[in-house]
Amino acid sequence: MSDKLAQIDPNSRLKVYVETYGCQMNLADTEIVLGIMSKSGYSPTNTMNDADVVLLNTCSVREHAEEKIRQRLGTIRNQRLDKPNLVVGVLGCMAERLRSNLLDDRKVDIVVGPDEYRKLPQLLEGALAGTQGMGVRLSRTETYDDITPFRAEGISAWISVMRGCDKFCTFCIVPFTRGRERSRTLAGVVNEVEQLVRQGIREVTLLGQNVNSYRDGVNDFADLLAAVAKVEPALRVRFTTSHPQDLSDKLIDTIAGHDNLCKYIHLPVQSGSSRVLETMNRTYTRGHYLELVRRIRARIPDVALSTDIIAGFPTETEDEHMETLSLMEEVRYDGAYMFKYSPREGTPAYKMGDDVPDDVKTRRLSEIISLQQKLSYEINSSLIGRTFDVMVDGTSRKSDEQLSGRTDTNKTVVFPKGSLKPGDVVRVKIDRASMATLFGEVVGYLN
Ligand code: 5AD
Ligand code: SF4
Repeated sequence: MSDKLAQIDPNSRLKVYVETYGCQMNLADTEIVLGIMSKSGYSPTNTMNDADVVLLNTCSVREHAEEKIRQRLGTIRNQRLDKPNLVVGVLGCMAERLRSNLLDDRKVDIVVGPDEYRKLPQLLEGALAGTQGMGVRLSRTETYDDITPFRAEGISAWISVMRGCDKFCTFCIVPFTRGRERSRTLAGVVNEVEQLVRQGIREVTLLGQNVNSYRDGVNDFADLLAAVAKVEPALRVRFTTSHPQDLSDKLIDTIAGHDNLCKYIHLPVQSGSSRVLETMNRTYTRGHYLELVRRIRARIPDVALSTDIIAGFPTETEDEHMETLSLMEEVRYDGAYMFKYSPREGTPAYKMGDDVPDDVKTRRLSEIISLQQKLSYEINSSLIGRTFDVMVDGTSRKSDEQLSGRTDTNKTVVFPKGSLKPGDVVRVKIDRASMATLFGEVVGYLN
């Protein structure tokens, strides 16, 4: 490879473009990456065409996600024929999983896993001089607590509060690509939230693979939520993801006890069968999960719940699949992310084979999706006539004449445009509902 640096104007700041795949953790990590890069003289750009450096922040959770990224790398390689100086990097879970394999075919200049983003400036310097580079060591302590993320303008911010996962669900690659659990300090998170509020942020989402195991030595996640809620009563505070095992009564009481802690919990169940849950190493039974849901609903009556479900886990029988459907009926989730099982090399489930045939997995998944669509529609229809406080996100995707916002239970509401701006909170009376959206009229203003 040539010395790319020699061909770039030394007086201009190099432009970096990052494309993000996968979960919200990756969105937050991209902001950390851009924070690190802008501090060392790069300027972020939203268009790949004027970029000197293109980074893909990747996901390995399912084969399909990796496939998409491989295709994208192919396209970028073709563009490189016109732009030979372009530096290409792979970040995130796929970088961690595939390591030097990604460097082998020379489509990629640098490979950097989730715990080595501080090395990016140094690795890019090498890449610009024609040397491939890699940083894939996992850390027990890295939390990027001191890095100021580079955030696009808006009213909402992601804040990662813990990294890694120690749960080792048998299907999941994340404990291997993101390493051990570690948490930022409560003071560090609160400080960041205070700054964001001063900058005009109206909603924060605290992120972690399993926020409920947040622990900074003194405080647990309930303490963190309470502290963040106190920063500003008008700030909406959300969080994701919660593992059912660690969702304590203290946490439920904390959510119930603060108006600005949003009444919405993403509580992945994965399966409705206790036998499958055990094989997945989820550490709870169907009965425990349903009991937890009962406790949550008793303390937070209007709470919205969503979940993740996997169809066709190895050895899953037809009866066990039916148990997933019946659990969904019992819980009546407001929403769900639903997936076909995808074998990931290196996970314990990989060794169990992949014995549910693809057509069976597809059929089970479509039954799960149809049921969820029915439930979402029924739940949303039951809200017609009710009034909700809605925070405006922006113009509706479907019409310039309409605004779109969300309730604290995270439901999307579309209503006619007035003189409102993102971050404003209005009272909306619901007069129509679809599976994914509520529609209504503004009946009052809150700020
Ligand atoms: N196959 C299918 N879905 C998976 N998930 C994690 N690993 C796999 C896999 N191997 C799903 C789980 C998890 C969500 C983030 O992705 O439902 O909760
Ligand atoms: Fe994966 Fe389970 Fe950890 Fe979630 S809790 S990241 S599914 S291992």
